Amino acid sequence: MKLLHIDSSIMGGNSVSRQLTERIVAEWQATHPGTTVDYLDLAASAPSHLSIESLGFRLGPQAESLSDAQRRENALSETLVSQFLAADVVVVGAPLYNFSIPSQLKAWIDRIAQAGRTFKYTEKGAVGLATGKTVIVASSRGGVYSTSEVGRALEHQESYLQTVFGFFGITDVRIVRAEGVAMGDAKKAEALDAAGHAIKALSTSAANEAQASVAAA
Ligand SMILES: Cc1cc2nc3c(=O)[nH]c(=O)nc-3n(C[C@H](O)[C@H](O)[C@H](O)COP(=O)(O)O)c2cc1C
Repeated sequence: MKLLHIDSSIMGGNSVSRQLTERIVAEWQATHPGTTVDYLDLAASAPSHLSIESLGFRLGPQAESLSDAQRRENALSETLVSQFLAADVVVVGAPLYNFSIPSQLKAWIDRIAQAGRTFKYTEKGAVGLATGKTVIVASSRGGVYSTSEVGRALEHQESYLQTVFGFFGITDVRIVRAEGVAMGDAKKAEALDAAGHAIKALSTSAANEAQASVAAA
């Protein structure tokens, strides 16, 4: 089984989501021996935002006349989308910044959202092509959003990730959440405790575990 571990927090050693992804990956490896791990630290090295240079993978017929810069950016997009598609399990550290995800994480999503690779359009609408994966989102939030209708409407982090991974065809999206971490030490300890329990409960099968073990045999 292949696991892709992604961090995007800018807070280094003080990051809550990094602490959670580390624990999730350790727990997953302990319960799924033989799992190999690829690591992406998007705060250390993120793809650039989409531009005319990096949009090359969407240009279609113009692909013949790509500039050197466009070819370089295409190669990076290809590396990122192939790495994502090869993973059976993707663990995504996703802090809540300004009601959404870090722009570094959005830049990665923009590179892997490729027609023909992670989704396609048909006469009946969009179809996800990255089926069979498990995604585990490590969500860290200063405030509390999950317990009220108003809170849930305000956040565009978990809801966005559910939408975009669902659009890619992934039905097994699990959330490990530590929220209210900026609301005092007691609230933070409580949030980390709840996240710890959620991590222990993750030990159930990945969506494509059966296929992954057949492939490994
Ligand atoms: C730039 C920035 C923006 C933030 N915006 C929000 C926000 O909109 N809502 C919120 O509840 N907390 C917000 N916070 C608090 C973070 O969600 C909280 O510190 C969380 O632990 C961040 O995850 P991390 O520690 O892995 O970076 C923000 C923090 C930073 C640094």
